Amino acid sequence: MGTLYRHGKMFVLMVLLGLMVSSSAYGAGNFYDTFESTFGGHRVQIFGLGNRDLSLSLDQGSGSGFRSKKEYLFGRIDMQMKLVAGNSAGTVTTLYLSSDQSTGRHDEIDFEFLGNVSGQPYTLHTNVFSQGQGNREQQFHLWFDPTTNFHTYSIVWNPKLIMFLVDETPIRVFRNYENRGIMFFPKNQPQRIYASLWEADDWATQGGLVKTDWSKAPFKAFYRNFNIDTSTNGAWKNHDLDATSRNRLRWVQKNYLIYDYCSDWKRFSQAFPPECKHSKLL
Ligand SMILES: *[C@@H]1O[C@H](CO)[C@@H](O)[C@H](O)[C@H]1NC(C)=O
Repeated sequence: MGTLYRHGKMFVLMVLLGLMVSSSAYGAGNFYDTFESTFGGHRVQIFGLGNRDLSLSLDQGSGSGFRSKKEYLFGRIDMQMKLVAGNSAGTVTTLYLSSDQSTGRHDEIDFEFLGNVSGQPYTLHTNVFSQGQGNREQQFHLWFDPTTNFHTYSIVWNPKLIMFLVDETPIRVFRNYENRGIMFFPKNQPQRIYASLWEADDWATQGGLVKTDWSKAPFKAFYRNFNIDTSTNGAWKNHDLDATSRNRLRWVQKNYLIYDYCSDWKRFSQAFPPECKHSKLL
């Protein structure tokens, strides 16, 4: 009786563990299971083994986009992306998190890739919104050509910080400083994962100086092998900088940062946003 009972308990435990593993692995990487298209109709295409590849396209009729079916409160999102090649001036490719925007007090965490004329670098634009307020931009150049290969872009979001990573290298850390009385951090509203490819030649190209070359349309951006980790025992929960990643972050911030709102004296001549006095601590 005793051993049967113990075996029974062991069996239940193993079934439970199996369920936990398979439910977190289930659908991982399959775009049909996890995402739905938001605009652009046939311009959103899912293909490849296990439906792990997706392409967005942009022509003069429309751009395109998709979003997750579910909302998430904290976690880690990884997405491999290959950006519009050639003359991509005026195109904007995005990967971001956003809560419901109809509230007027939405939260958002952004990666936006601003295209450029052939041979000139993309700008990677990042921003954080809390309760409808943004204005927390940092922009970067990349240390590789993002159009020739897939690279992994990740957002780690936990109650203490938001970390933006490119191929595991942290490029930006945005911390929650509520223990110092600074109330600007998304932490109450669940967010969906969004991605899109659209045209913004007035905003994205040096104030509209360069126009989108529609003779090169349709423009295409590729997404694949995403991973969403919201597991309660996930490493994202306590993810922070260690000595190595802090050095990597400093390397990026020293060599590839091209705009930081906390250094924009003209724009914030009255007062910098309050977190700026801590942001150099990283
Ligand atoms: C395009 O490249 C030029 C020259 O390197 C750079 O000054 C500009 O910021 C780039 N534009 C975008 C949108 O990345």
